[in-house]
Amino acid sequence: MLVSHERGDLVVIANRLPVHRAAAGGGWETSPGGLVSALMPILREHKGVWIGWAGSAEPSLNSFEHEGLFNVPVSLSEEEVRDYYEGFSNSTLWPLYHDACQTPQYNRAWWAPYVAVNHRFAEVAAREAAPHGHVLVQDYHLQLVPGMLREMRPDVRIGFFLHIPFPPVELFAQLPWRQRILEGMLGADVIGFQTRHGAQNFVRLVNRYTIHRGSGHAINVNGRRVLARDYPISIDYQRIVSLASDPAVIARSQEIRADLGEHRTIMLGVDRLDYTKGIDQRLRAVYEIFKNGRHTVDDLVLVQVSVPSRESVDEYIEVRDRIEKLVGHINGEFGKVGAVPVHYLRRSLPIEELVAYYLAADVMLVTPFRDGMNLVAKEYVASRRDDTGVLVLSEFTGSAVELDRAVMVNPHDIDGMAAIIERAIAMPRAEQVRRMRSLRQRVRKRTVFTWAADFTQALTADQPQPVTSFPPATTLAGDRS
Ligand code: F6P
Repeated sequence: MLVSHERGDLVVIANRLPVHRAAAGGGWETSPGGLVSALMPILREHKGVWIGWAGSAEPSLNSFEHEGLFNVPVSLSEEEVRDYYEGFSNSTLWPLYHDACQTPQYNRAWWAPYVAVNHRFAEVAAREAAPHGHVLVQDYHLQLVPGMLREMRPDVRIGFFLHIPFPPVELFAQLPWRQRILEGMLGADVIGFQTRHGAQNFVRLVNRYTIHRGSGHAINVNGRRVLARDYPISIDYQRIVSLASDPAVIARSQEIRADLGEHRTIMLGVDRLDYTKGIDQRLRAVYEIFKNGRHTVDDLVLVQVSVPSRESVDEYIEVRDRIEKLVGHINGEFGKVGAVPVHYLRRSLPIEELVAYYLAADVMLVTPFRDGMNLVAKEYVASRRDDTGVLVLSEFTGSAVELDRAVMVNPHDIDGMAAIIERAIAMPRAEQVRRMRSLRQRVRKRTVFTWAADFTQALTADQPQPVTSFPPATTLAGDRS
């Protein structure tokens, strides 16, 4: 258990700070999102510190307190934003970890900046962590931090959580720096993944490409026991339920329904504008549905909310172009004056507005090619207080493990997806209710608070006995690090 209340007893390191610059006035605002709201209460209670990048290539900023949390900004130069963030993190690791659904770029010039920025984060954490403190390192941008921090501060307990998928052996093996990444992560005491498969992939890779040996959830790193297992992240269920009960949100959802046409079935997609989300394949399936003539613009409509993301990376510019062409194509072919089949909103919406859309939507389309978890699926389920509505969910999302009563789709199969969406549109109310009840129970049982409690509990548990029973280690010759 975390007991002391000294500043730095609990330190979170993430690529981004939990705050961003307010649109007006230049002050700070807390960023929305499950991770921030889950960690905030424990961070406040333990005089926590959050180390992260402020999100722009600003010159160095001083540490500051905001709403009871101590923020320590790490600055990045323009070149580092290009090479560490847009390059190695988002053009090498991001596509590779998402099943290489875009070709990962192995650019040797990006590795040194990735190492340098990870080192900078580790140094700041080494300075900020209290003696025997606890440090939670977040995500793929910072996989070398646990190893670096352990060298600098062997007294601290280190947790690492990967928010995105961890790929199978044959894919990860492509990475020229695979051994260094694995060793970096192994600096942690607890390594958390979204799914059991992610954790298993990691243990297999450790056995293959490092001198350490793992079995089940445990890895023996020179006599130190490292725990690698799944901690599926979730949402603040009660917050979504309260928003879905708010009269203003309900009124707004009725307004949305009225604007779109009371008699039409409303389908909804809400995603960051990312090529992993399968938005273009979803639109192709919707095209097929209108094309086959069983539905027309008079009885069916899709609202696609696409939140702009990583707009300087080429692949993101390309996927946006593809999506916008498809929207134009569908609307041109099947729309009429006064009614279009696809409403496309390229912007971020406040959570109240999003929940109003969830309440208005009869069918929610969540169709990524690969996704670590997908919290939109869980938010939709939480908001459906009357147990109606159908969740169409890609089998390649982490949330498909828990949300197994959703209607599953393979986003690579356009005809199959079109047929399944049509079944979802036609699903009888009684079946909707049976499925949604079970889905809501799942989400209610495991919230983001359960996630934070389980993960921090594993980290703060007494150090287990060193592992001695694994087979002897062998070194893999010729591995580049
Ligand atoms: O899912 C991974 C993640 O890095 C999230 O932590 C983050 O909210 C999202 O992708 C957006 O990423 P970025 O920080 O690159 O805008």
